[in-house]
Amino acid sequence: MTTVSGPTYHEMLHPELLPPAVRTQALEATSELDPVHLFNITWRGPDNAIRHVVLPSALTGVAANIVVLIGRYFPSGSHKVGPAYTTLMEGELSGEIQPGRSTMIGPSTGNFGIGVAYISKLKGYPAIVIMPEQMSEERYQRIRQYGGRLDLTPGSESDVILVLERTQEFKRDPKNKILAQFELLPNYRFHRYVTGRSALEAAKPYGNGRITAFVSAPGSAGTIAAADEVKTHFPECMVCALEPKECSTLFNNGRGTHRIEGIGDKMVTLIHNVLTTDYIGLIHDDDCVAGLELLERRRGLVERILGMPAGSFGSLAGVFGISGICNILGAIRLARHLSLGGGDNVVTIATDGMDRYPSVLANLEKRRGPLDEPRLTGWFEQIFRGGGSSDFLDVRSIEEKNRLFTYKEQVWTNFGYSLPYLESMKSQSFWDAEFEKIREVDEAVATNRVSQN
Ligand SMILES: Cc1ncc(COP(=O)(O)O)c(C=O)c1O
Repeated sequence: MTTVSGPTYHEMLHPELLPPAVRTQALEATSELDPVHLFNITWRGPDNAIRHVVLPSALTGVAANIVVLIGRYFPSGSHKVGPAYTTLMEGELSGEIQPGRSTMIGPSTGNFGIGVAYISKLKGYPAIVIMPEQMSEERYQRIRQYGGRLDLTPGSESDVILVLERTQEFKRDPKNKILAQFELLPNYRFHRYVTGRSALEAAKPYGNGRITAFVSAPGSAGTIAAADEVKTHFPECMVCALEPKECSTLFNNGRGTHRIEGIGDKMVTLIHNVLTTDYIGLIHDDDCVAGLELLERRRGLVERILGMPAGSFGSLAGVFGISGICNILGAIRLARHLSLGGGDNVVTIATDGMDRYPSVLANLEKRRGPLDEPRLTGWFEQIFRGGGSSDFLDVRSIEEKNRLFTYKEQVWTNFGYSLPYLESMKSQSFWDAEFEKIREVDEAVATNRVSQN
């Protein structure tokens, strides 16, 4: 069996360089399950611009430009499809994954699993998604819709270690191939190259054209790899990883359950380059759920509170999920913490959109009672103007780096990684060498495509 071909890393960054017939066919494909959608894995829209919004300063209350890359228009509804594709694609190139023989296993809290089910369907592999049993119902529906099988582990977002343990059981059958987002570097490569360079381009027209800060709440810590690319261009860029206050693992080794699906996985993931993380910031989980309620279902009220004409925030409809609100609040609060001004750009990411969360917002009203105007007005003040300096921890010192390295070692030696390998990750040259592999991967993808034609 041959495999369905897809884009190179460079084509995901620049889909406008695809053969025009392929680009047009991809943009015009009607069926979601048409394999040509692989060529729509990109931050760019049909006009080739990077999909992003700059939040109105009336909303953020800060002078800095908060630039948010929008992930919901990726095929399958979130940018997590990118790492799912690159991990599978690199597995095929190495011969590890074989059409007609291999089954894809996607350990996930949802969006990566949706991506794995989707990419597997497009490329013709069976897929099993291992994820916690208490994630939003919309996630399970999508996985089933793409023909993925679900294998559910107890608990919620912060019980990812159970997902990893279950994954070990699947490893015993050699036909099962684990698309291990927490461990495998195609996730790093996708975000450093495709997301990082897209972020640089998106920020260019604003403020001083540079990126002063990059904010991302890590799950696998793939997205935050974009910051490594930003730092190669703007070394002064401050990089902040956000966590739920209820599960402050990187901040102070804290653990707990929380409501921000996709992030806060109670560990330092293997692919998290902690060398380039400068701050850890904490955000209360329900501020993100309530913040989504305000921006999604109470926009008219928010406009009235801020004295803005009705419809001013209409362009924000549908494009954020809960972790996107977390990233936005983190970006606003970091801008305040660092006293950033109008020339400064803070870039962050909205991984998915509102389509994943109607059930979560329906539950908010059930949990917290009637949402009348005085109450929602109080929430706006607390959520969009709240947070303080004590929520940020500076982790640039050697002591903090060592604390994070030790945490990483504690987790990953349990999953069979050697101390010398973990030691090698303490040098930036490890990450740069991994990044450099993109060139040979892209050459191999292009060569395979020619030989198939
Ligand atoms: C909704 C959501 N937000 C944020 C993240 C975190 O992204 P990353 O895994 O790249 O750190 C994820 C990951 O699955 C997610 O699903």
